[in-house]
Amino acid sequence: MAQILDGLALSRQIKKEIKEEVRKILAKKRRAPHLAAILVGNNGASQTYVNSKVKDCEEVGFRSSLFKFPSTVSESELLEKIRELNASKSVDGFIVQLPLPPQIDQEKIILAIDPRKDVDGFHPENFGKMALEMDTFLPATPFGILTLLERYSIETKGKHCVIIGRSRIVGRPMSILMGRKDFPGNATVSLTHSYTEHVERFTKNADIVITALGDPGFLKGDMIKGGAIIIDVGITRVEDSSEKGHRLSGDVDFESCFPKASWITPVPGGVGPMTRTMLMKNTLLAYKTSVYDD
Ligand code: GUN
Repeated sequence: MAQILDGLALSRQIKKEIKEEVRKILAKKRRAPHLAAILVGNNGASQTYVNSKVKDCEEVGFRSSLFKFPSTVSESELLEKIRELNASKSVDGFIVQLPLPPQIDQEKIILAIDPRKDVDGFHPENFGKMALEMDTFLPATPFGILTLLERYSIETKGKHCVIIGRSRIVGRPMSILMGRKDFPGNATVSLTHSYTEHVERFTKNADIVITALGDPGFLKGDMIKGGAIIIDVGITRVEDSSEKGHRLSGDVDFESCFPKASWITPVPGGVGPMTRTMLMKNTLLAYKTSVYDD
């Protein structure tokens, strides 16, 4: 029977720690950390995510600014806003919520963000620093997973870690971080993806499985080894007969994996709240390392 990696409880604890740091900052008569977000269009999930980020800022005592653009915005208008935020002395970090509409070149947008303010950790300079084990902003979801493993003192050294999905924001950075010379890390990593044949051959041999593919209930109990650590990054809306008409489902079939695993993250209440909280951590880090001293 698995024990629960309670991301909701841990994220509350970390937000309390951040709030306490903000209290000390304000007591020294300094300004609060400030996160800005750019939201383009009216994608429901993006609006929900950005609203949650604003709410988290309020909760920990940060200032936040939200800049909304219609889906018809031009690339040059967005780049102009990014230049303004890069130059702003009052903004410590900012994010451009993805995905962006087709007329916008996402790469161009990410490259335009000042790496010192890139609290998503998406800029190639920050990704490169991460891969080279230099101090930098880690992307929020991988950072959240590392923090869960660290705070629950889960040993990763010498373990076989299988990651399912190679996205730029989760699977790929996670594969690098689990293999780094650090704790958590020092694992032997297999990065599996859509062209991997018989993924269960990998997962059955894994001490740690991290799923980030967005396929509800994909990982079944008979695909894992007894005592495995299961981290579920999936959050897919599936329709059901509840009042809301839908629920959030992870990539892991919890019912069949729970009795077999040693540790498991629930959905909701596992990786999701940790991801949100790590953006606050990165904003605090940006504030502390800010080149501006006002
Ligand atoms: N879209 C989905 N996840 C993210 C994220 O972590 N950051 C940004 N900017 N966009 C996203």
